[in-house]
Amino acid sequence: MNVLVVNGPNLNLLGEREPAIYGHATLRDLERAVREKCRKLGWKVRFFQSNHEGAIVDELQAQRRWADAVLLNPAAFTHYSYAIRDALLAIQVPTAEIHLSDLDARAERDEFRKVSVVRDIVAYRFAGRGIDSYLDALDAFAAAAPR
Ligand code: DQA
Repeated sequence: MNVLVVNGPNLNLLGEREPAIYGHATLRDLERAVREKCRKLGWKVRFFQSNHEGAIVDELQAQRRWADAVLLNPAAFTHYSYAIRDALLAIQVPTAEIHLSDLDARAERDEFRKVSVVRDIVAYRFAGRGIDSYLDALDAFAAAAPR
């Protein structure tokens, strides 16, 4: 199984960005944990992070024949990017929507976080467990994978 992990805007600053919300682990720590779990599963993994919507669309398109599964944390694009939604519909690769933080809990303060424009078209959604949200998604794909 080939897994593409895509992280959206500001996730390059993990570790220093609002640690009370996103924790102290860096993007590198996150990628290390995902890589390690994929290694145990015998899966290949590729990572991509960008602060730019079009670059994320380009990467999803470019990897569409390689990837069997996508772990996507669209970050703020979650809440309004129809371009990323359309890209997921176009590539038709099973995708898990991932969030480090608990969006429902944060919606009290930030109403916009209630909305996800990809929620209804992804296979899975994991949120609120930090890096474990990514690992939970790998577990879900592993449980669904043919033996
Ligand atoms: C996020 C949640 C989004 O609302 C926010 O804009 C992010 C990160 C998360 O992982 O919790 O940048 O996707």
